[in-house]
Amino acid sequence: METVVSGIRSTGNLHLGNYFGAVKNFLKMQEENKCFFFIADYHSLTTHPRPDNLHANIKQVLAEYLACGIDPEIATIFIQSDVPEVTELYLLLNMVAYVGELERTTSFKEKIRKHPDNINAGLLTYPVLMAADIIIHRANKVPVGKDQEQHLEMTRRFARRFNTLYEVNYFPEPDAYNFGNELVKIPGLDGAGKMGKSEGNGIFLTDEPSVIRKKVMSAVTDSGPTLPGQEPSEPVKNLFTIMKVVSEPSTVEYFTNQHASCQIRYGDLKKQLAEDIIKVTDPIRNRANGILADNKYLAKVVREGGERARESASKTIRDVREIIGYKQF
Ligand code: TRP
Repeated sequence: METVVSGIRSTGNLHLGNYFGAVKNFLKMQEENKCFFFIADYHSLTTHPRPDNLHANIKQVLAEYLACGIDPEIATIFIQSDVPEVTELYLLLNMVAYVGELERTTSFKEKIRKHPDNINAGLLTYPVLMAADIIIHRANKVPVGKDQEQHLEMTRRFARRFNTLYEVNYFPEPDAYNFGNELVKIPGLDGAGKMGKSEGNGIFLTDEPSVIRKKVMSAVTDSGPTLPGQEPSEPVKNLFTIMKVVSEPSTVEYFTNQHASCQIRYGDLKKQLAEDIIKVTDPIRNRANGILADNKYLAKVVREGGERARESASKTIRDVREIIGYKQF
């Protein structure tokens, strides 16, 4: 059995991008692999959440994970900060990560551009912590969206460097994984880039149907095709991309043909798209609300998951300390 690790930062509700980029793959993988799915609450600290909402954020993502169908009986679900061993491996891996490569990471450069007032060292070493999350369970596969590809490449590099430095073959080099051939990137509704949490761009799994309809209806499009067979513009292509993951193939085909023959009415496409999104999100939203109210269940899930994750993590730390040369007096 192969080992799978993946995590999602607890910085707000899950959106369609998280679902189709990551969680949906978790569901398929949990059946056939040894899976560790966690909530990356240490990673969420880079953006300085307040003490009075940190816990609620974690709880929300946990409830949504479970509502999506991750099964705590077969997969290990845990909170990152319940497994402090990961911070030790993070420190140790910092010794094989070079400042230059961390500074060149795309996600870091983007953060600098967007938040020049909060360039903390935790952001710089974010990929090192992520690598520790993954290799502490000696994972082989990591289901993530396309935006995480570079972080996975760095994880492999750190694992390889550790192996080379200590002349061992201890850490496997994990791969980013998706059931299709390609990693999925779900675009946002504002016409450019991936789906995120910003206003008017993302659809959350817990959005009420009325909210989803409103968001989709106000998604950016264009003034319509003028030549038969014309390539759709970026914002319209984005709507088709979302449609491909939520709608029936025949629906996609219908609107594709409508576009190609210049007969398309974007209002109709959006109405259909909204309804097909709601079909995916509505059962999840209902279940999440029920689970959120069941504190006893949530407590049991994280206690048992935390124990299993710690067991696996502490074994790795024992091995790693020995490899590095720590000995008992
Ligand atoms: N960086 C990931 C994201 O933003 C979250 C994450 C943290 C993660 N640690 C991980 C994903 C380990 C996979 C494996 O989505």
